[in-house]
Amino acid sequence: MNAPAYVKNPKLLAWVAEMAALCKPAKIHWCDGSEEEYNALCQQLVDAGTFKKLNPVKRPNSFLACSDPTDVARVEDRTYICSEKKENAGPTNNWVAPAEMRATLQPLFDGCMQGRTMYVIPFSMGPLGSHIAHVGIELSDSPYVAVSQKIMTRMGKAVYDVIGTDGPFVPCVHTVGAPLAAGQADVKWPCNKTKYIVHYPETREIWSYGSGYGGNALLGKKCFALRIASNMGRDQGWLAEHMLILGVTNPQGKKYHVAAAFPSACGKTNFSMLVPPAGFDGWKVTTIGDDIAWIKPHDDGKLYAINPEAGYFGVAPGTNFHTNPNCMASLDKNVIYTNVALTDDGDVWWEGMEKDTGKLPDHLIDWQGKDWTPQIAKETGAKAAHPNARFTVGATNNPALDPAWDDPAGVVIDAFIFGGRRSTTVPLVTEARNWTEGVYMAATMGSETTAAAAGQQGVVRRDPFAMLPFTGYNMSDYFQHWLDMGHKLAQSKAKLPSIYCVNWFRKGEDGKFVWPGYGENMRVLKWMIDRIEGNAQGAENVFGISPKYNELNWTGLDFTADQFKTVTHVDKAAWVEELKLHEELFTQLAYHLPAEMTATKAALEQRLAA
Ligand code: OXD
Ligand code: MN
Repeated sequence: MNAPAYVKNPKLLAWVAEMAALCKPAKIHWCDGSEEEYNALCQQLVDAGTFKKLNPVKRPNSFLACSDPTDVARVEDRTYICSEKKENAGPTNNWVAPAEMRATLQPLFDGCMQGRTMYVIPFSMGPLGSHIAHVGIELSDSPYVAVSQKIMTRMGKAVYDVIGTDGPFVPCVHTVGAPLAAGQADVKWPCNKTKYIVHYPETREIWSYGSGYGGNALLGKKCFALRIASNMGRDQGWLAEHMLILGVTNPQGKKYHVAAAFPSACGKTNFSMLVPPAGFDGWKVTTIGDDIAWIKPHDDGKLYAINPEAGYFGVAPGTNFHTNPNCMASLDKNVIYTNVALTDDGDVWWEGMEKDTGKLPDHLIDWQGKDWTPQIAKETGAKAAHPNARFTVGATNNPALDPAWDDPAGVVIDAFIFGGRRSTTVPLVTEARNWTEGVYMAATMGSETTAAAAGQQGVVRRDPFAMLPFTGYNMSDYFQHWLDMGHKLAQSKAKLPSIYCVNWFRKGEDGKFVWPGYGENMRVLKWMIDRIEGNAQGAENVFGISPKYNELNWTGLDFTADQFKTVTHVDKAAWVEELKLHEELFTQLAYHLPAEMTATKAALEQRLAA
């Protein structure tokens, strides 16, 4: 097996040997995480045709990969939580008994890596050695995964020092499911039309088959950092959340930290890199993470958060110098792009970039390798970039990176934000009157679906805590875990984080978004801080506390009181309808649904009826 001498953990060595015997790779490559290794693997991907090297003058050391058109997003309907008991997976997860799933996967994995190399990828989720961090080992037959993990995690041989001879690690096995017979030529993006993304929560294992894309394949991200880690958090008393973490510093130098949950592809990366607009001189927003937060309580009664990731796997379309200038600045070098379009001069392009240049490019090669012109787009509606096209880039490229982003101690969370994507009903911002009401708001969050997952887009679905596809156990037990955390924290002298619900996406009668969003969200963020400091009174509505018009700083933005009313108005009739949907959710989640949730709903109903 040729394991390097620095791998000293017998359990790990035995597991790799066992997996190699099952998957039968032609070779094993133990990743050390070095620059040389990264460069060599990228060159190998170029030689194989998976990567195209971009123009080194325009995008130094950057590559474009275009996937198989059938492998472009997370496959939620093929994602399984295989807990021993069905009720522990709960009604929001696909469940198959572990023994049955193992029997299904065994023959699929038997020989699945034939003719390929098995990469042994050691990674830490979170700063190496942080008490909040945890490590994993991913075995994958995809060099694209190996190089992506170098960007997205702390990947390399130092992880073996953390594991030592007997330290724990989460075993993650991934195959594209495309063995090569002797002499068989490879394709540019091997994958299999059969896909399984499988989690065994009790044994903390991940098995992924058939996809090479994103969260299906980079197993540290959704599979480990959310689905498995949510189980670890429940058992060990901490939180694994689908949240960005940002720092916001006021002109007096006082800094706050906010963790915010939004469903996939609803602007988390943009919010985490927000540039304060005119009228906010001296304010600064800095990024700790853009997608996932691991949050642990300390003896001082405060919650400390780290970003378990080391890079951003963000949605490219819609990103431009208006929506996210810091992100655009992050993308100038050392980036892996997937499923964006290629310009004639070897650069990348995606829908939304025309807002920066004022015009569409005359000609592109689209993400499927076809010619694209504005005329073709007009006639056929063809997108140059896939709507779920991504960039993979290291956090250190971000000019707004928070100095504490890599601090093993984490940062203290002052507020949580939960945001859905709703054209109607939910106000721009509402503060929960207490922790339980905040948990209720988060639990009943609805959102119109996006391209981050395969399936129909734009349909409203309940997405509790933006965790619907990511909670690795029963959703009602997850609500209970949040309630329990609040009750426990309330016993200390420390102030509980405030909880806010936001909705940037409310539309007017003309069907257009009313709130300008992006950098202007700073106005809402500042109001939250004013509330934390006791400097804004707000106005109470049935749902919680929302700002009065004059409590937001409007300098530099022409936003009338009428427009403000459109985005904050609580329409009682619409809320009566909305509560029917909460009822539907609660019926679905009836098993173990905390009584505090039904009581909060009843109180809301009473306020509506009053
Ligand atoms: C993501 C997602 O990729 O949520 O972050 O789908
Ligand atoms: Mn996400």
